[in-house]
Amino acid sequence: MSQRVQGVIARGKGAPVELTTIVVPDPGPGEAVVAIQACGVCHTDLHYREGGINDDFPFLLGHEAAGVVESVGAGVTDVEPGDFVVLNWRAVCGTCRACRKGKPWYCFATHNATQKMTLEDGTELSPALGIGAFVEKTLVHAGQCTKVDPRARAAAVGLLGCGVMAGIGAAINTGGVTRGDSVAVIGCGGVGDGAVAGAALAGATTIIAIDTDDQKLEWARGFGATHTINARGADVVEAVKELTGGFGADVVIEAVGRPETYEQAFYARDLAGTVVLVGVPTPDMKIELPLLEIFGRGGALKSSWYGDCLPTRDFPMLTDLYLQGRLDLDAFVTEEIALGQVEEAFGKMHTGGVLRSVVVF
Ligand SMILES: NC(=O)c1ccc[n+]([C@@H]2O[C@H](COP(=O)([O-])OP(=O)(O)OC[C@H]3O[C@@H](n4cnc5c(N)ncnc54)[C@H](O)[C@@H]3O)[C@@H](O)[C@H]2O)c1
Ligand SMILES: [Zn+2]
Ligand SMILES: [Zn+2]
Repeated sequence: MSQRVQGVIARGKGAPVELTTIVVPDPGPGEAVVAIQACGVCHTDLHYREGGINDDFPFLLGHEAAGVVESVGAGVTDVEPGDFVVLNWRAVCGTCRACRKGKPWYCFATHNATQKMTLEDGTELSPALGIGAFVEKTLVHAGQCTKVDPRARAAAVGLLGCGVMAGIGAAINTGGVTRGDSVAVIGCGGVGDGAVAGAALAGATTIIAIDTDDQKLEWARGFGATHTINARGADVVEAVKELTGGFGADVVIEAVGRPETYEQAFYARDLAGTVVLVGVPTPDMKIELPLLEIFGRGGALKSSWYGDCLPTRDFPMLTDLYLQGRLDLDAFVTEEIALGQVEEAFGKMHTGGVLRSVVVF
């Protein structure tokens, strides 16, 4: 058995996305079908559409989602129909070398659904990040469903499924930001503002937001930035140093994914500081740095995959902070849109004015 629902696919490199019929199989062993209530539009969806991730077209896009479990397959015990869940792309295996070392947030063998969702002609779809949630119903591994407090607004907590979690985690988990730290965040989209919010939650006292868009900088202040720098025409490294006693920030988070902004991050941090790369570069990008500077500046150059999050630990906790009014996830939702407006939302990523467009069903 299977069901036919509407979903958004990217058929080929750079081609506009299409709304079409998706065939969703009934859940097999270990799988779940989730009725999507909301799904954010993330820059990574655009990377997929542009062929920047891989060439496994057609993609079923969308991956920052919340919804309600509709049905589960054999052997599923952690979730049941009716549960309100945020989808994750880190359903940890428990047995790989990372999981065995007690570091499941690095899990190298995360679970996805075994069966494939398809087009009506049988063409198999590649779901973005193993999720695919710009669709009325999606098929995932049951471990990709993390139960959270059902009083939360789907459009807001769904964002924990990727970008906002990646940002918060880049600050708290990867960057190890703590009370009294100075933090600079380069690129204040959904991910960067997540990092700003995470730095604020962790008690950083200087939080410098950097973007080329004044509207983004204003929003960043709302999430806890104490200072802002418009990178257009500014010397970002010098400006960060000026705001940190001439030294640079303890932690600099790069949330754009470009060589020039990574280089700024590298030079804008204090000695023995930490650089966190959470922005995703494309395969053609390269960077050249003097090896002596890498040595001489000490500290750590880290990458943050999904904010080193553990969904079972972090999603319910952050949802609780949201419900307590301590993490303003609603402020990430600039607009609620219909399934047919994803392409338009991609356009707004370039023209600005939007932090997150969220498809609501
Ligand atoms: N590591 C992860 O697990 C993870 C998860 C989700 C997204 N990402 C990546 O994070 C990045 C950001 O995602 P997003 O959804 O926030 O994107 P976004 O497009 O909403 O935000 C990017 C921001 O960077 C700003 N920007 C662009 N060029 C700049 C420059 N030279 N200097 C300063 N700011 C600049 C833009 O104005 C924009 O505000 C993307 O590369 C995305 O793929 C990574
Ligand atoms: Zn594992
Ligand atoms: Zn994402």
